[in-house]
Amino acid sequence: MKISNTIESLKSVIQQWHSEGLRVGFVPTMGHLHSGHLELVNQAKLACDKVVVSIYVNPLQFNEINDFDAYPKTLADDQNQLISVNADLLFLPDNEMMYPDGQQSITRVCVPEITQELEGESRPGHFDGVSTVVNKLFNLVQPQQAFFGEKDYQQLLLVRKMVEDLNIPVEIKSVSTYRETDGLAMSSRNSRLSVSERQLAPQLLRVLKKLSERVLNDESLSEVELDAENELLAAGFELEYVSVRHSNTLDIADKKPGNRRVLAAVRLGEVRLIDNLKID
Ligand code: PAJ
Repeated sequence: MKISNTIESLKSVIQQWHSEGLRVGFVPTMGHLHSGHLELVNQAKLACDKVVVSIYVNPLQFNEINDFDAYPKTLADDQNQLISVNADLLFLPDNEMMYPDGQQSITRVCVPEITQELEGESRPGHFDGVSTVVNKLFNLVQPQQAFFGEKDYQQLLLVRKMVEDLNIPVEIKSVSTYRETDGLAMSSRNSRLSVSERQLAPQLLRVLKKLSERVLNDESLSEVELDAENELLAAGFELEYVSVRHSNTLDIADKKPGNRRVLAAVRLGEVRLIDNLKID
């Protein structure tokens, strides 16, 4: 696996691949990789000739400095995992490279629809940081395809909308949420859970599954959401939101079946967990 620590070395490899007519797939990450990330790389390997993975903990998308500081950094282990799935190039930008004039003055990309509610409400500024850095990374890596997880469902829709609105020449591919055997969605943040929090965490999916079954049974959405919230609180989670939405627009769903998804965010101690589930 090649490693690029500079934009110049990245560009020369990409130019070479493009001149050979090779299809480049891209998996942007913030590191502390797990099997969910590797699944994205596997899908990219199946669809493309060469796969670039980036690891960059993007300060622009963190609205809590503690969360940024605590974000786990495990580069040596990440590299070994990427070698094991035959990633072709690891791009490791740093802040100097991404924000040479500092973060404050950077031109920002804002996707106003989709980003106002749910994660956008809980994490002000977060999505502008994501769209800005993903746009920069697309411009640097120039992939034909880029792979994003359904785990961060709102982020996936945001990237699709940005690419469409700004005519960015990349095809966005989504990958289903990869879970632990007990149902907990894999996340780099899971390693920060205490033993007892880790035992509790899979209850989130259990509650979302139950909610989903009740929605399919045509029960009142507001009642079902409220019951799910109370169940999560009773189990010991702090609650941010549980909400049934239209899968494509994230508008509040109604009782009419079709294309609905439930999205949730909770906290266990210091750790924020998100998950979502397709209903129809
Ligand atoms: P990160 O949280 O590292 O996630 C990188 C990619 O892996 C995202 O597309 C995310 O949805 C996907 N992913 C994470 N956990 C997953 C799981 N359990 N199953 C399937 N896919 C999973 O998301 C980011 O980084 C950043 O916001 C980024 C896009 C890199 C921009 O900084």
